[in-house]
Amino acid sequence: MGSPRWKRLCLLFLAGLAASLVFYGRHYASPGSPSTASRMPQQGEVGLVQAEISQDARGHHLTGERASCELDKLLLSLCPWSLKSKVKIEPTFGQQFNFDIPVLIWERHFTPDSWDRLKQRNAPNGWHGLPYSVISSTLKVLNDSANSRLFSTASFPNGCIRCAVVGNGGILNGSRQGKEIDAHDFVFRVNGAVTKGFEKDVGTKTSFFGFTVNTMKNSLIAYAEYGFTQIPQAKDLQYIFIPSHVRDYIMLRAAVLGIAVPEGYDEGDEPQKYFGSEASAGKFKLLHPEFMYYLRERFLRSENIKSQFGHLYMPSTGAIMLLTALHTCDQVSAYGFITENYKKFSAHYYEHEKKPLVFYANHDMLLELELWKNLHQAGFMKLYQR
Ligand SMILES: *[C@@H]1O[C@H](CO)[C@@H](O)[C@H](O)[C@H]1NC(C)=O
Ligand SMILES: *[C@@H]1O[C@H](CO)[C@@H](O)[C@H](O)[C@H]1NC(C)=O
Repeated sequence: MGSPRWKRLCLLFLAGLAASLVFYGRHYASPGSPSTASRMPQQGEVGLVQAEISQDARGHHLTGERASCELDKLLLSLCPWSLKSKVKIEPTFGQQFNFDIPVLIWERHFTPDSWDRLKQRNAPNGWHGLPYSVISSTLKVLNDSANSRLFSTASFPNGCIRCAVVGNGGILNGSRQGKEIDAHDFVFRVNGAVTKGFEKDVGTKTSFFGFTVNTMKNSLIAYAEYGFTQIPQAKDLQYIFIPSHVRDYIMLRAAVLGIAVPEGYDEGDEPQKYFGSEASAGKFKLLHPEFMYYLRERFLRSENIKSQFGHLYMPSTGAIMLLTALHTCDQVSAYGFITENYKKFSAHYYEHEKKPLVFYANHDMLLELELWKNLHQAGFMKLYQR
């Protein structure tokens, strides 16, 4: 085993590492590999850079022990399993991912070009049939840079952002995953996400709440009996609107401006009732229709699209949030999502007695099941199963 000297060195080294990867690169990279030494890795490149570094380490005949101590800690201090770096080295499945597609839409994306392109497709994948005035006035109020991203990476200098996405599946009943879920940097929840009374199984933290106005209102009605009587509200909680219908744009604009909904299906509704009175623009995010289209085409292109209800098809709210996390976080764990043994569990974790999961024509849960299984097997995310 290692001498005390190595242990001390190791510890010292860790302190240095945390402060600077550049230091590490300069110190150990051979002169023959300047790329490792001279360049700070961008977020997402870290995994690849690590592979390079470990090769350099071998090239310098470090003892296995010393190398493994240092590398272990390097792996811990940075983000060894960043999704973006994994995707780059995974030849087949990885190619489905395109991290250049903007996840959120905001003021700067609204151009004559985007209007012409997106008006060709129906919501949620575009703006076909939606009034220009509604789209333009909604995007105009999303003018804070906070509207362009889910979170600022500035507070994560070492680049590893760990997210938990919590679906409402019955698999969470009795799971005791609450602590683990809350330990993530960000926790995504959707629709009727009751936490009160279920803290041990699902945790309490909510960073992002995702929904369409339709699923939000339906959840308040359908799950009130299980305690879902209010949309989660908290100072740091942010809302992710899914642009499934013109009403989502209208509600979003009213929420940002702090006014009653001026027109349409939800006319007269007070957004504060759902989202609280702190109505800063940055609290509200809107998924980009282009991103919605990409998710459907690349990840969840269901046969249902060809059916008579094809125009209604879209990925489930949970699926949209999980894929959103997979395109923004470095590591993602999914809880409460459909697994192969879903029949063993109730549809939702909060039901009082077991209810079967009902499949509706507008979603394709079996295709989602397959996708989660594959993403888990590829190591792109961790799917909670039991
Ligand atoms: C966003 O727009 C509002 C009203 O249109 C304006 O008052 C505000 O200053 C703008 N904010 C930014 C960051 O440009
Ligand atoms: C939740 O788990 C408990 C304990 O295993 C079980 O008795 C109960 O039936 C489950 N609830 C549902 C809705 O499946």
